[in-house]
Amino acid sequence: MSETLLKIENLSVSFSGFHAVSEVDLSVERGKIHVIIGPNGAGKSTLMDLITGKTKPTEGKILYNGTDIAGKDPGMIASKYKIGRKFQGPNVFDNMTVYENIEIALKGYTSIRKAFTYRRTEKVKEKIKKILNQIQLYDQRDMMATELAHGQRQWLEIGMVIAQSPELIILDEPAAGMTDVETYKTGEMVKQLAGKHTLIVIEHDMDFVEQIADTVTVLHQGKVLAEGSFAEVKKNPEVVRVYLQDENGEGF
Ligand SMILES: Nc1ncnc2c1ncn2[C@@H]1O[C@H](COP(=O)(O)OP(=O)(O)OP(=O)(O)O)[C@@H](O)[C@H]1O
Ligand SMILES: [Mg+2]
Repeated sequence: MSETLLKIENLSVSFSGFHAVSEVDLSVERGKIHVIIGPNGAGKSTLMDLITGKTKPTEGKILYNGTDIAGKDPGMIASKYKIGRKFQGPNVFDNMTVYENIEIALKGYTSIRKAFTYRRTEKVKEKIKKILNQIQLYDQRDMMATELAHGQRQWLEIGMVIAQSPELIILDEPAAGMTDVETYKTGEMVKQLAGKHTLIVIEHDMDFVEQIADTVTVLHQGKVLAEGSFAEVKKNPEVVRVYLQDENGEGF
């Protein structure tokens, strides 16, 4: 039986009259991988900005475990409601090792007192090791973040999100710029996170979407165009027309 973790109702935001997200209804089931696809400018990242509190909606509800978190402070959404996000761009500390990057994410910045009383205890070490293994960077733990390949950097960022023990993980284009092998590995990594975590993933790579998605929602011009399994969505004529069609008019 499935259970809803996130229920978005009639959510809209406009920027000086432009409707970036418009009357969106969306349900995300606990422990599942929910993928959001759609053309550039469809409102995918903006929808994530609304969930994480970066942007305040003009209308609508974001029910998270039954509580409306719409318009709440981003820090509170991250720490109290345990929603973690990996952004479209890089966020790692270049002048630190892989290990230190995970450690700093694990520590969090919740208080100065916490920072002073922090100890690298056995429990902490075990947790860092577990995360390094999950993101397949245990052997690279003493490398500086700058020395990592592009794909490995993206995994480090996923590790930094996991370190914050989120219930819901939001990944905005985690496979962007990756090789096919890296993309596949990322998919397997994401699938291992499901169950314990719930994931919302934005992606353009359809092989990757097929690999990971339990449910796919297609956004177009700020609205939900279609929703279903990957197999259902990819043969939806509207979806093919606005998004999946290549320059020869062929479907995916
Ligand atoms: N803070 C803002 N102020 C004004 N316009 C914005 C703001 N944020 C987003 N937009 C606009 O809203 C639209 C949706 O942008 P968004 O970044 O959500 O698209 P996207 O689906 O993530 O696209 P992509 O696939 O290119 O990442 C775009 O036209 C963008 O310019
Ligand atoms: Mg985006």
